[in-house]
Formats: sequence, C-alpha cells, structure tokens
Amino acid sequence: MSVDVLLGLQWGDEGKGKIVDYLAPQYNIVARFQGGPNAGHTLEFDNVKYVLHQVPSGIFRPQIKNIIGNGVVFDPVLFQEEIQGLIQLGVDPFQNLYISKKAHLILPSHKLLDAAQEKSKGNRKIGSTLKGIGPTYQDKIGRSGIRLGEMLNSEFRNKIDSIIKIHNIQLQNLGDKPVSGQSIEEFFQALAFLKKFYISDTEILINSEIDKGSSVLCEGAQGSMLDVDFGSYPFVTSSNTTVAGVCSGLGIPPTKIKKVIGVFKAYCTRVGSGPFPTELFDKTGDILRSKGNEFGATTGRPRRCGWLDLPALKYACVINGVNKLHMMKADVLSEFDEIKIATGYKTKEGEIASQLIYNIENTLDKPVYSDFAGWAFKDGDTKFTELPATFVDYINFIEENLDIPIEIISIGPRREETIIKPAVDLG
Ligand code: GDP
Ligand code: IMO
Ligand code: MG
Repeated sequence: MSVDVLLGLQWGDEGKGKIVDYLAPQYNIVARFQGGPNAGHTLEFDNVKYVLHQVPSGIFRPQIKNIIGNGVVFDPVLFQEEIQGLIQLGVDPFQNLYISKKAHLILPSHKLLDAAQEKSKGNRKIGSTLKGIGPTYQDKIGRSGIRLGEMLNSEFRNKIDSIIKIHNIQLQNLGDKPVSGQSIEEFFQALAFLKKFYISDTEILINSEIDKGSSVLCEGAQGSMLDVDFGSYPFVTSSNTTVAGVCSGLGIPPTKIKKVIGVFKAYCTRVGSGPFPTELFDKTGDILRSKGNEFGATTGRPRRCGWLDLPALKYACVINGVNKLHMMKADVLSEFDEIKIATGYKTKEGEIASQLIYNIENTLDKPVYSDFAGWAFKDGDTKFTELPATFVDYINFIEENLDIPIEIISIGPRREETIIKPAVDLG
C-alpha cells in the first residue's frame, strides 16, 4: 500500500501531466484532489499529444482506476467535451473513471460571474482561466453550492434554479447579462451524459482500496505558488494546491501519505497576473517562451518566463514536505551560454533576503542571482552519466540547496525523454 502525491512547486504547468502518465503504471489509482477545468495537463506518447483538464492522467491505462475527488470543482459541459475527445482517440473512459458525489458543480452562471468579477477588478484582475473556478469555490465555502450527488434528488432542478436566480442578481449588479436559457439547457444535457459514469462515494472507495493494498498517485493541479493560502494572494487560484488538499479533497488521512513528489521546471513560468520576481522581459525571456513552447494548455495565453527562483522553490518544498524532486524541461535551457538561478532577493531597503518575502510585490528591488555555465544536450541523451558536467553542476546546486534529491530529469515532452537519476547521498 502506498499513497504518493505529485504536485507542482511553481505557478502551474510544470509538466505534471507528463510525469503522472510516466509513473502511472506503478499505481492502481490516479486521483485528482482539487482544481477543475482550469488545469491543462499535457501528455505525449505514440506521436500524439493529449491535453486533459478534468480527467486524471491515468485514463490512458485501462487497468488504472481514475478518481475525480470531492475537492474538485466539476464542469459537466466541459467534461462531456473532454470525454468525447478521448473516445475519438480510441480511449474507453467509462469503465475506469469515478467521480465524487461531493464534487461541487460549476454552473454556467459561475463562468459568467468569473468573467464579471475579473472585469470589475480592472488592472488588479487575477488573470483567471474564466472556467468559473473562483465563484464555484466561493459558493462551496459560503455553503450555497450544489454537489454532483444531488443530481438524483427530486429537488435538484429547483435548487439549481434558485442558485441561478441569485447569480443573475449578482451579474446584474456587476453590469452583466443574466445566464442564457440555452446554456442552462446545455448544462442539463451534459448532466444526463454523466449518468454513464460511476458517481461514487470516492472517499470510501479510495480508503477501502488503500486497505486492500492498492497504491494511489494523487495528481495535483496548478502549483504551490497558486495555493489560496500559501501562494501570492490574491493572485492565486481558489483551492489548496499543496499537499493539504489531498486530505480534504480525497478523504485520505495524512498518515497514509508516503512520498510527496515536487515537480518543477528548470526555469519558471507564470500565466495570469501577480508577482514573479525572476521574470525576464528581454530576449532571454522570449527564447525561453519559444523554445519551451510556453503557451497555456487551457487558454493558449503566452506564459511569462524567467529564471529559476530558489527561495520560492524552497518555500514550496517546506510547506509540502517534498521528499523527491522531478525537474522538467531541462532541454529548454540547453544551448544557453549562461544560466542564472535566483538565490535571494534584494529589497527596496537594500537588505538581502534568502527566503520568500511576504508582500514581495511591493518589497522587491531585484533578485540576487548565481551564474552557471550553459550546456548542450545531444540528441538521444538518456543516461544521467552521459549528461554534460555543467548541467550536473546546475542540478547539484539545486539538490544541495534544497537538501532533497532529484529523482527524475525530463528532457522532452515524450515518455521516452525521461532520465532516472541515480540516488545521491545528500548527507
Ligand atoms: P502541467 O499543467 O503541469 O501538466 O503542464 P502543461 O501540460 O500545462 O505544460 C507543460 C508543457 O511542457 C506541455 O506542453 C508538455 O508537453 C511539455 N513538457 C513536459 N515535459 C517537458 C520536457 O521535459 N521538455 C519539454 N521541452 N517539454 C516538456
Ligand atoms: P495546471 O494544472 C497555470 C492560474 C490562472 C490565474 C490563476 C487563477 O495546468 O498547472 P483560476 O482560473 O484558477 O481562477 O485562475 O491561476 N492558473 C493556472 N496557471 N497552470 C494551471 O493549471 C492553472 N490554473 C489556474 O492563470 O493566474
Ligand atoms: Mg497546465
């Protein structure tokens, strides 16, 4: 029996989908615990690229049970589209996908409210994916939401109608139009499609599977710096993207969690607004974006790019109790003459901070960098021992500073472009 958690340590899009797909054969269950269709997890194998939003990344392996947990906010309309896309690609998602009765539903009016709230924030907007995530979690926490399990209740339609009535008033107050009858119809049609799936008490299912000896991989969405408590609030998402979300979002007790795998890019990206200390506005940033194909998997927006931020990474490791690291997209840094890692921040008062600063948006003068010589990977590099010495210096520096071993290095989007690093003794 083992429950492992894999989550992003930066601002999302670290490459979680690729690595969950790579590790999936080692597990019996892959489970999502938070977020919703704001996620875009890309997997590439057999020369095909797949982007998953709400469906866990174990779906391509028929022997694996995939669970959408109670902590997820769930959009039936987008789910139906996603499933139809999978079916067209030859996947049969009906036998190995379980959705929690306690997952909250994203209504069409939540999506309109997301857009209206963003508009009302003007230049302080979050840069939301506009999938209705914030308003749905607001209703959940405000105890006004509606859960999937209520679908079979005779009062379901009336409840939805009364929630939408309230949303329409809120929309009107924000100067927006009410939700259309057509999108409500579309929503109910998508709910009917859901009846083909197992709508379950997933917290009971997962715990009984764990008791039977099944192994579980919990798949995080977004990244630790977007966590509603620990991220760069208010420029965050509305869920706990950190390890705590596993307990509340799947009903898995903390005593059952063994390994916490922290996934990070060899550099940093962020999409949407909010502080990003190492952001590059120059040609180097443009090169990272084009070499890394840094455009959002959900919204297509260009991602902001910058050097690796070690204090932020360390902070994310601490709050998650990360015990293994996976470094992604090392290939994107190949062929740079010089590479930098931020090791601290110079404040406007002229002090040097080596830890992530509260309110960094207003306090930061500029990051403090360490410089590294670049490297060039060769085509077909698959063995750690054959990688360039300057690259090994780069990862040794990260491991020693975080005091956590890097277990996997990813050098391309495909399954085979993954290097297992021999274990090191960090003393
Ligand atoms: P996720 O949200 O964390 O699953 O990440 P995304 O799928 O949004 O973004 C990661 C992008 O990088 C995707 O397009 C992946 O196919 C791609 N990718 C993953 N690992 C690597 C890698 O090691 N090198 C390169 N060049 N691309 C990668
Ligand atoms: P994956 O799982 C990157 C960002 C949005 C915005 C903020 C709030 O693919 O890593 P929301 O729609 O959640 O209210 O948006 O969070 N964001 C992501 N950025 N990857 C994601 O998911 C994200 N999900 C949300 O851009 O800044
Ligand atoms: Mg993504």
